[in-house]
Amino acid sequence: VLLEQQDGTVDLAGMRISAPDELGAEASLLGAALGLITAADGEITLSLDDELGPEAYALDVTAQGVAIVGGDAAGACWGAQTLRQLLPPATLAGEGGLVAPLVHVEDAPRFGWRGYMVDVARHFFTIEDLERQVEVAALHKVNRLHVHLTDDQGWRLEIPAWPRLTEVGGASEVDGGEGGWYTTEDWASLVAFAAARHVVVVPEIDLPGHAGAALAAYPELGASGEAVELSTSAVQSDAALSWEAEATPGFVSDVLAEVARQSPGAWLHVGADEVDEISEEDYASFVQLLRDEVVADGRTMVGWDEIGRVELEAPFLAQHWRDPDRALAAAEMGGTVIASPAEHTYLDLVYDGDADYGQVWAGAVNVEKAYAWDPTDEGLLEAEIAGVEGCLWTEYIDDVEKVDFMTWPRLAALAEVGWTAAADREWADFGERVSWDGARLEALGIGYYRSPELDWAEL
Ligand code: ACM
Repeated sequence: VLLEQQDGTVDLAGMRISAPDELGAEASLLGAALGLITAADGEITLSLDDELGPEAYALDVTAQGVAIVGGDAAGACWGAQTLRQLLPPATLAGEGGLVAPLVHVEDAPRFGWRGYMVDVARHFFTIEDLERQVEVAALHKVNRLHVHLTDDQGWRLEIPAWPRLTEVGGASEVDGGEGGWYTTEDWASLVAFAAARHVVVVPEIDLPGHAGAALAAYPELGASGEAVELSTSAVQSDAALSWEAEATPGFVSDVLAEVARQSPGAWLHVGADEVDEISEEDYASFVQLLRDEVVADGRTMVGWDEIGRVELEAPFLAQHWRDPDRALAAAEMGGTVIASPAEHTYLDLVYDGDADYGQVWAGAVNVEKAYAWDPTDEGLLEAEIAGVEGCLWTEYIDDVEKVDFMTWPRLAALAEVGWTAAADREWADFGERVSWDGARLEALGIGYYRSPELDWAEL
């Protein structure tokens, strides 16, 4: 990033926003955020210059107005988000005024994948809950919302041809709460809300393990064929789809095709993590089938790093969470790696020893641990890395306040790991800037952990 600041400020109040037709949606979104109208001839302009490259932008704030030039529509959108961040934090609540510093910024992301995962299977969260997080994540230039839709404790997305998945599998959650699920219309509204902010929704259907909810709904998918009860325990069950079951291939094909139909993004996540119940051979057959089905649906498969154990044809993405050797093996086969090493990116892990809740299996992840690491640390090359993702598992996260607290400010740290070149990142410098993020989150009504590692701005 190049950032040059001149003396002085400009008040954007009363200015109008203009943009070519292809950036009309981005202009409207910025107008709504700042309380400004769009017009054919405005002082705040959005435009495109494809020489800047994907997601890149240039931003000029001068005494006369603002020019945002995007390498593509996403770049224009990120430039607009940077403008919002330059304004007083209270502006995010519509109260701060629109006085901006005079700056010239040239900026482009290091990685194309800057993700946030929410597990809605262990505890159910509504579309509104997810949209609220997308709004804030996009302010930090996060561009993927990965939704972990299925697990032992719940199946959360309607699949019309297999209605018991949600009727039975969506009826509960950890500790026996009422659970819930998304209709195809609900899901479409989330996808559209995120797309308007250049956030791609990545649906995850976790197969063949973590499949208790599917087996509760359709026992014929399991080895015994016997009914299993929907789990309300936080602990993983031993439920897995059986490779030998006659119903399995048709189920996998139907479900992935339906999820693809409902999700226009380029990726389908098939889970494939922590499957100990079936043989290594059956596991390999499963992963190869999942890949073939995803390709048949015109998408690229994403799986957790266990898929690095299987002979696979690229392209595919492996999400590294646990075993660096499996991530390296995936890259060796031509796969691309999403870096989610638990000890830096798992948002369900405690911040520190004083935490009231959170998991500890991979240690504590304070804000510095979320920030001061690099996706290349375990031997992957830059070109083998798609990007970075923070993962919020929800075995013990049962309300929105806890989601906020566990996510922020750690996701801000991870967003910067994904966006900014390693040579331009420094913990002390980040700490100073993220302290202002607290004020922004406050203005947006989003909770966060005021970690004692940081010197938070006075509110
Ligand atoms: C995982 O945490 N089981 C991917």
